[in-house]
Amino acid sequence: MFDPRPLVDIATAIGREAGALVQRMRASAVVSFDTKSTSTDVVTAADRASEQLVRTRLSELRPGEPVLGEEEGGSVVEGLTWVVDPIDGTVNYLYGIPWYSVSIAAQFDGESVAGAVFEPATGRMWTAARGYGSFLDGSPLRVSATTDLSLSLLGYGFAYRPERRQRQADAWARMAARVRDLRRAGAASLDLCSVAAGRLDAYTEHGLGRWDWAAGGLIAAEAGAVVRLPGSSPELGEDATFAAAPGIADAMHSALVESGYGKV
Ligand code: IPD
Repeated sequence: MFDPRPLVDIATAIGREAGALVQRMRASAVVSFDTKSTSTDVVTAADRASEQLVRTRLSELRPGEPVLGEEEGGSVVEGLTWVVDPIDGTVNYLYGIPWYSVSIAAQFDGESVAGAVFEPATGRMWTAARGYGSFLDGSPLRVSATTDLSLSLLGYGFAYRPERRQRQADAWARMAARVRDLRRAGAASLDLCSVAAGRLDAYTEHGLGRWDWAAGGLIAAEAGAVVRLPGSSPELGEDATFAAAPGIADAMHSALVESGYGKV
């Protein structure tokens, strides 16, 4: 395996530049937006501008390497693919809630080897390279040491279709009695980073795009989390993403399945 760390440097440099752009666009005027699949699925002009910038910079620094992005699409190929969420947490961005990111990952044969998740509103940078650990602003990250499901904090996100949201909300309500508390923070990449930092003990969500988990999933795994990506956890659902501190991972996974998450 090649040394993936230079790819992190590229992702962080581009992430910072794109983050500065989305912050300028947030400050300058009314945030214009469209809806996509449903009224809860939004895209702003800043999402599109950020992805354009990231694609331009990648084509300059890594000519010929394919890019999969949330707004312009693309596909994952054998070898290297860049996976970009130009603003993860767009609804937070729209409302001025400072919990959104620019997420950039490099995947090799479909698996993340380098990732950077930049928070434009705070300037915090989360990074990981496969085999080299994960970091917040250069400080190493470690998942929580919790071993007690009933004392764990669980993050979650909702899908866009109303019927599915209802089923998810029902399962979520059942989990409320089994854990310390629940959080729906609104940016999947940062939920995964939160597991890496021990700010959440676990996180799960169904129906994420690859751009939502590609960088954050690596950051969580490199911090010691048990991470299951879409397609690897049929009991929890084919499109489930799951990340948890190892001391509660099995108990959390079972509790989620018992609570009905496998059928949402
Ligand atoms: C969304 C956020 C949200 C999650 C959704 C994602 P976007 O990403 O990560 O937390 O619940 O599933 O689509 O659309 O803001 O990039």
